Amino acid sequence: VNDQHRISTLGQFPTWPQIGAEELTAVSAVLATSTLSQLSGPHVEQFEAVLGDYHGVEHCVALSSGTSAVHLGLVVLGIGPGDEVIVPSHTFVASASPVLYVGARPVFADVEPRHYCLDPADVERRLTARTRAVIAVHLNGHPAELELLQGICDRRGLWLIEDAAQAIGAQYMNRQVGSFGVLSCFSFWHDKIITTGGEGGAILTNDANLAERIRRLRHHGEEPTTRERLYHHTVLGYNYRMTSMQAAIGTVQLGRLDDYVAIRRLRARQLTDLLTDVPGIVVPDVAAHALPSWWKYVCRIDRSVLRTDADELSTALSAIGVPAARRYPIPLHRQPVFRGLPASTVDHPVADRLSEELFSLPIHPAITPEHVADMATAIRALAAERIR
Ligand SMILES: Cc1ncc(COP(=O)(O)O)c(C=O)c1O
Repeated sequence: VNDQHRISTLGQFPTWPQIGAEELTAVSAVLATSTLSQLSGPHVEQFEAVLGDYHGVEHCVALSSGTSAVHLGLVVLGIGPGDEVIVPSHTFVASASPVLYVGARPVFADVEPRHYCLDPADVERRLTARTRAVIAVHLNGHPAELELLQGICDRRGLWLIEDAAQAIGAQYMNRQVGSFGVLSCFSFWHDKIITTGGEGGAILTNDANLAERIRRLRHHGEEPTTRERLYHHTVLGYNYRMTSMQAAIGTVQLGRLDDYVAIRRLRARQLTDLLTDVPGIVVPDVAAHALPSWWKYVCRIDRSVLRTDADELSTALSAIGVPAARRYPIPLHRQPVFRGLPASTVDHPVADRLSEELFSLPIHPAITPEHVADMATAIRALAAERIR
């Protein structure tokens, strides 16, 4: 690397999350009162109330992870063996693996080439008499095409499930994502937009009956689901509870959410301004009805302009200290875990192409304008060396 590429912040990028004094105080307070479990303290209920209110959704059930949220969502909608669920081919594995947990079949639909979320036209093509639900993933913090997907679901009598694991704080038509589907799933894992202390998740729904059943399934299928324990188990349940410490951290983090998202939007605008005219680098597009929360800033490499791909360029960026990463290197229809699923593994040209062309840049609130400027300078320099 030439000296001209060596820039002040490279190799010194801050990590995410950054936990502050407020979170430490909140956790200490829980520990001091020994109300550690959802069953022994009010913290989980308090977190649920704040998260539900933020979205204007009536019921919120906090869970151990985003994966358990997708799992319980499918269980309470009655999805099981013989059923098919449409999932995007370009997303994190946990959007689809819970479909296998319930014995149903994930059917992978291609994504649209500009925002990398489900392509409604391809969803239509993959519907069968067995399709029961569509999982719309708001990837990288960009809302999926909810209106078109909801239209398809309404016409065909299907459930629309939102996977908002990467997108809390994003809006679609001026409404929070997570307030559209029959239920929506959230993750508060370590480096998500907000965290509940490393792991955590939640389901939001306006359906009181679904919410009550999710509460029961989270707690060993036990009734009542309140703190009183009769050890009466009416259905096959799980232990998917969130701890009081997680909830206390989450409540503090929810208070920071709007500020966090505002900084992410500002940094995204700065990156886009600096990268827009770099030949061969396609900056992320924002749909007209969308206000992303920018979990990741994802660039596409135009391989007709540059002699590189996501693997080579993200490796080169990492080598000079820019924490770039491929996004995602193996589409779900090519993952060994899903091998052998008929019909869903063929013909995903966009997801296949994106797996070679996308790389992500960090854009969390600890990233400063200096980091943004240095990332852009590094990308511009490395791209210039790779012009065809
Ligand atoms: C799109 C998506 N769905 C589901 C999950 C699962 O969430 P968790 O890691 O909390 O289980 C994640 C993230 O990890 C995700 O990015």
